[in-house]
Amino acid sequence: MFAERYGTIPTIYRAPGRVNLIGEHTDYNDGFVMPAALDLYTYVAVSPRPDRKLRVYSENLGEMCDLNLDLIHPGSSGHWNDYVRGVAGVLESYGYRLRGADLAILSEVPLGAGLSSSAALEVSTALAILSSSQISVDRTTVAKLCQKAEHLYAEMRCGIMDQFISCHGRAGHALMLDCRSLDFQLLPIPGHVRLMACNTMVRHEHASSGYNTRRQECEDSFRALTAVLPGIRALRDVTLDDLENHSNRLSDVIYKRVRHVVTENDRVKKSASALKTGDIAEFGRLMADSHRSLRDDYEVSTSELDLMVELANCQKGVYGARMTGGGFGGCTINLVDAAHAQEVQQRLEQDYEARTGLRPTILICEASHGAGTVPEDPPESNEPTE
Ligand code: GLA
Repeated sequence: MFAERYGTIPTIYRAPGRVNLIGEHTDYNDGFVMPAALDLYTYVAVSPRPDRKLRVYSENLGEMCDLNLDLIHPGSSGHWNDYVRGVAGVLESYGYRLRGADLAILSEVPLGAGLSSSAALEVSTALAILSSSQISVDRTTVAKLCQKAEHLYAEMRCGIMDQFISCHGRAGHALMLDCRSLDFQLLPIPGHVRLMACNTMVRHEHASSGYNTRRQECEDSFRALTAVLPGIRALRDVTLDDLENHSNRLSDVIYKRVRHVVTENDRVKKSASALKTGDIAEFGRLMADSHRSLRDDYEVSTSELDLMVELANCQKGVYGARMTGGGFGGCTINLVDAAHAQEVQQRLEQDYEARTGLRPTILICEASHGAGTVPEDPPESNEPTE
């Protein structure tokens, strides 16, 4: 497709979408998360140009657009190309002098379903345009720059989780990330467990403004608590006792937001221990608590997400179910016994459609490798293993 359109043979990069197993809305509070990369990728084919133009073709949308690297400025236009423009703009603003390039994009990650299609596009674009400019940048820096692009060019004040897992995912593993130090541990997912992503097919218009509001609420509560807890650097440092002792400084709503963050960080640590000992039943219980906390305290779930979780919990072979990602629509994640996965998939499709009239997409996925070239290159040697 690329050769037909541009008349050259490209190099191809890819970056995956993700599900988050547990640890929601904790990343921007310096906390803990545990995502896995999915076997769904965004591919970017690239070939350098002698000028400073980026010609970008989206195969999914059948649209072409041109960018001039000398005329990129922050701000969202609501166009799909904001992500490509954003990555190029941020790289240039950090002093990476890019060459022009012809690009073609093909995404397997469903767009706008809460499986991080935007992070997959940002990371694959970054790898493609950096390498065609013969610039080498380590993966953690790529993740941080892509996060910046999302802040400045999509006006979504996301944390680091999505871009980080897209860069560092490992097949068969969940990744527990300390979002303060960016230290991470790769935790093997038992072979008999499948990841099931269930798209409710409902995404609220205000998803990104709702997200930014939650982030603001966390910043406000941090400021209120720092007056009485001067040692804290983020909500990650607040304990449940601290929260109870100083609840009078917080409104009821803000108190609940903080309670979610504090208890969710604890759940991620407990989930990591459960995964290490192969106690998937315990992991499932922690997922159920996480969902309740997101629904009642953080208030980012929807009736469709709640229903999808409730239906999953009635199925044989489901260890745990919860909403995944930012919320306000999108997907749930189930951990399912491999032997029951297909039956659970069929039942959920039928039951959810019968209750809502919406036909959901239920994907049985495997934890997969993070970003790289196609065909795959070996992982960076300085990464921790297990
Ligand atoms: C979105 C953001 C992430 C994270 C999650 C919620 O996916 O991009 O950084 O905050 O929401 O956990």
